[in-house]
Amino acid sequence: MMCQGPCLAVPKKKGQDAKLLLSDLGLLDKRLLVASDSDRVFWPLVRDVSEDERLVLEDRLGSFQLVYREFKPSKKRPKSILEELGGTLSPEQLALLPHSFDAVGDIAVLEIPDELLDQRFLVGEAVLRVHKNIRVVLAKAGKVDGVNRVRRFTHLAGEKRTTTLHRENDCVFRVDLASVYFSPRLVTEHARVARQIRPGEIVVDLFAGVGPFSIQIAKVVDARVYSIDINEVAVEFLKQNIHLNKVDDRVFPFSGDARQIVKDKLYSSADRVIMNLPGGAESFIDVACHAMKAEGGIIHYYQFASEPDIFDEAIDTLIRGVEANSRKIVKILHRRKVRPSAPREWQIVVDAQIR
Ligand SMILES: C[S@@+](CC[C@H](N)C(=O)[O-])C[C@H]1O[C@@H](n2cnc3c(N)ncnc32)[C@H](O)[C@@H]1O
Repeated sequence: MMCQGPCLAVPKKKGQDAKLLLSDLGLLDKRLLVASDSDRVFWPLVRDVSEDERLVLEDRLGSFQLVYREFKPSKKRPKSILEELGGTLSPEQLALLPHSFDAVGDIAVLEIPDELLDQRFLVGEAVLRVHKNIRVVLAKAGKVDGVNRVRRFTHLAGEKRTTTLHRENDCVFRVDLASVYFSPRLVTEHARVARQIRPGEIVVDLFAGVGPFSIQIAKVVDARVYSIDINEVAVEFLKQNIHLNKVDDRVFPFSGDARQIVKDKLYSSADRVIMNLPGGAESFIDVACHAMKAEGGIIHYYQFASEPDIFDEAIDTLIRGVEANSRKIVKILHRRKVRPSAPREWQIVVDAQIR
């Protein structure tokens, strides 16, 4: 398919100078292929040239013509959405484009600033054209919310679905972003915890979601993992993921409230408890203590925290919660920022040895 548009015609000997100058001025349309005849090259432009730009071109190139003609589209993918939208959005709008996005499988999840809401579908299409592995583009349409920690999304471009297959640290996870929690930003944390587990350990993953901690642990070591989630849809995906990753003999899913499941089925069973519910783990410290074997073990405790005393409050909360349950923290083994969660706020983790 040919595209009709404005272009700059220059004698062949000035072709490269013209290309560099048009690039500098942000006028060169890199989505179209340059054309030529016997003595001129025709550089496609993203728009008509302004009077000021015409003066610069005259000063630097001398003779040229501004004409209209047809161009073949370039088969090369644009390198960035900035390049792709260079001819469509204003410089102010270009400055607001998101610099990155979360990729969950073949779904791109973008944060669109309010000022670009009217252009959001254009941005979505641009992401599809630039990133060949992306088939669906969604925009965040709210905060992670509710007991199930799920977010709403708006569909921007590509196939109309929210399910995908995500690969992480040699495991695969089927997820439906519209009905379960999943964040690709926890990839390092999932692997960090999985590396610590010793063969034969019993792990209780209190808030397992679709299983990224549980399954990665079972994939790297011969441990037994009890994985609980209150979101029934997440547990259905967890079951599929256990099967997909061939860890059916090591990961045991439970659907329901962690408090009730520990009370009924997992009391005093664990060498290690994972508490990845950063907005609410504080009210489950007693549950973690009840899940822990009498001789103790390790808790991975997650919380949101702000600068400057980023770990103090979480450690205090954990010590008080553990002592209120007739246990003791023998040692804080590790603390780290996991990921930024809001401006000047972090999701953090504290690993503690409990007796
Ligand atoms: C932040 S997500 C973490 C999921 C998973 N661990 C991960 O790393 O992707 C927290 C999960 O806790 C679950 N949840 C919330 N309250 C719960 C409760 N009382 N008992 C069990 N699961 C709960 C939510 O459904 C959600 O899947």
